[in-house]
Amino acid sequence: MKYNDIRQVFLDYFASRGHKIVPSASLVPNDPTLLFTVAGMVPWKGILQGAEAPFAPRVADVQKCIRAGGKHNDLDEVGFDGRHHTFFEMMGNWSFGDYFKAGAIEQSWELLTGVLKLDPEKIRVTTHVSDEESTELWRKIAGKEAIRLGDKDNWWSAGDTGPCGPCTEMFYDFGADIENEDDRWVEIWNDVFMQFDRDANGNLTPLPKQNVDTGGGLERWAAMLQGVRDNYDTDLFVNLMRAVEDVAGVKKTADNTPSFKVITDHLRAVGFAIADGVIPSNTDRGYVIRRILRRAMRHGQMLGHRGPLLSKLYPALITEMGAAYPELAREESRVVEIIRNEENAFADMLQNGMKLLDGELPKLHDKTLPGDVAFKLFDTYGFPLDLTQMILRDRGMDVDTAGFERAMTEQKERSRANTKGTRTLWESQTELPDTDDTGKYAPTTDMESRVLSILRGGEFVQSAAAGDEVEVALDKTPFYGTQGGQVGDSGTLAMGDAVVMNIGEAARVNNVVIHKGTLTAPLAVGDVVRPAIDDKMRAQTTRAHTATHLLQAALRTVLNEDVQQRGSKVSPDSVRFDFSFGRAMTADEKQAVEDLVNKWIAADMPVEHAEMSLDAARDRGAMALFGEKYGDIVRVITAGDVSCELCGGTHVHHTGEILRAKINKEKSISSGIRRITMSVGTLAE
Ligand code: SER
Repeated sequence: MKYNDIRQVFLDYFASRGHKIVPSASLVPNDPTLLFTVAGMVPWKGILQGAEAPFAPRVADVQKCIRAGGKHNDLDEVGFDGRHHTFFEMMGNWSFGDYFKAGAIEQSWELLTGVLKLDPEKIRVTTHVSDEESTELWRKIAGKEAIRLGDKDNWWSAGDTGPCGPCTEMFYDFGADIENEDDRWVEIWNDVFMQFDRDANGNLTPLPKQNVDTGGGLERWAAMLQGVRDNYDTDLFVNLMRAVEDVAGVKKTADNTPSFKVITDHLRAVGFAIADGVIPSNTDRGYVIRRILRRAMRHGQMLGHRGPLLSKLYPALITEMGAAYPELAREESRVVEIIRNEENAFADMLQNGMKLLDGELPKLHDKTLPGDVAFKLFDTYGFPLDLTQMILRDRGMDVDTAGFERAMTEQKERSRANTKGTRTLWESQTELPDTDDTGKYAPTTDMESRVLSILRGGEFVQSAAAGDEVEVALDKTPFYGTQGGQVGDSGTLAMGDAVVMNIGEAARVNNVVIHKGTLTAPLAVGDVVRPAIDDKMRAQTTRAHTATHLLQAALRTVLNEDVQQRGSKVSPDSVRFDFSFGRAMTADEKQAVEDLVNKWIAADMPVEHAEMSLDAARDRGAMALFGEKYGDIVRVITAGDVSCELCGGTHVHHTGEILRAKINKEKSISSGIRRITMSVGTLAE
């Protein structure tokens, strides 16, 4: 029986026994305690616990699962045997308060022996030591004497808390000549009787309803029904491996089979996860997928392959599994794009990192790679620790993981010291009032401000001398402190006619504007000063900011409405704009965007600056940045009829003030995110 037919036979059988058939839920669970959907019961946890009402008394499905990176983790086993997968399909039938032990066992037995015609002699069953009822049922229904085991084997739960209960498992004999018992008798189905809810203290409370959760691995069933001993010898994997042979240009041999297994397994995990919306990244499930993808590339490299691999194999995955999972084809262009970007980004690092590693290994005195080398591979070449370990494991070596962690912590501390700077010191000044910076939108030079706080060399001081590098907080200021992507103003503080401080940049910590620079005369807390911004720089930043809004509008016009801002830096006459878009822009598209921005500049459209309630802004259709917090009163910047955005930055009053715009570069910064750099004003001219 073909792999894809087994899925159908399973569902058809349970449909004939009154079950509602439902499609697989997403691999991304609606459950903060899990990285991925690790079992068929994950989407039904709420129903099993009694917190949600069941939508049908009997349900059957085939659930996409990933067991990698979390408590349920099979990543390190893949490739070494014929049974482990990071991605697999779990077939399950469910009773939500309907049938219980008798119904579950009777149906399992009928499907295995009545429908699939498996030899009853080749099936063994286990029950929980406490479960008399199931043991007796097996005698009655199948004439089988169950092997009775303890909690470790026959008690099931998805996590430390939640629904759980005793289970009965079915094992199939893969061949009397197989010496290792675990390889000979393979678990093919697990019927869990969800009777209890376990709380954080380990107490068991009977559930309001008695439920059945069963799980059978489709990959194992395929091996069993096709008479092969290795899941990777079933038709689906044979076909995927043929695709690997074509793409890598290498025949599968006994020696390189582990790489074929890893690549085909990882293709399914990466392909399905990204189709379900996971994006490779440096955190959480995104990092698990990145690691799996990089491991696959390493195995491609071991086969002599260079560059993109899984992105080229993805069409074969659609051929094999697209009929059962339409999302694979529906998401094809996006998934292939993301995988290809990720693979391109890592390809050179993989080659160079391997060179570094090959140079280090002969120097080792024992079989342990120093932590700082593993860290360099991680930090400079993007080798996740487990990738380095996987490579070394092939050579009987390991990594000094404690040394790796130490190097990682040291680097984190260094970068914290560099980037955080004095921010935490200012944050500790809880008595300091918010700076009145309402003057920033119409700066004058005659404001009189009082010095409230002076920070010098990591300490708050009452006064400082000429030549000191200081940071100063005032009661009010016309300075724009860096915020919302727009860099802060530079300028001066003066007393009388004399400048007392040159300010390189005004920053912002919460609602306090921090003036950073060098004193040219003594300054003390309580002094009254006249702050003045650098008008020329402000004008350049201001026109760059309005140009950023026009750029966003032009991208949405030329590319599509889905383009979304993901970050920006607005500096004097220059713009850096990050946005979500799945591929590189063509030269024509870049030109069209630039032309459109310049057309809008030439039209000298009026730019309206308005303050209103957030609701009124929404009614106007103002674009807001996703994830950004806005106050009740917001500023809305409207340029002609092309752009309307919520924005606290400074802006020109006519687009003609921008003079000109010129796109310099467009590149990828991570999967699905592009970065444009653009000059404006006299710099563009
Ligand atoms: N939840 C059980 C398992 O994952 C049965 O589906 O094995």
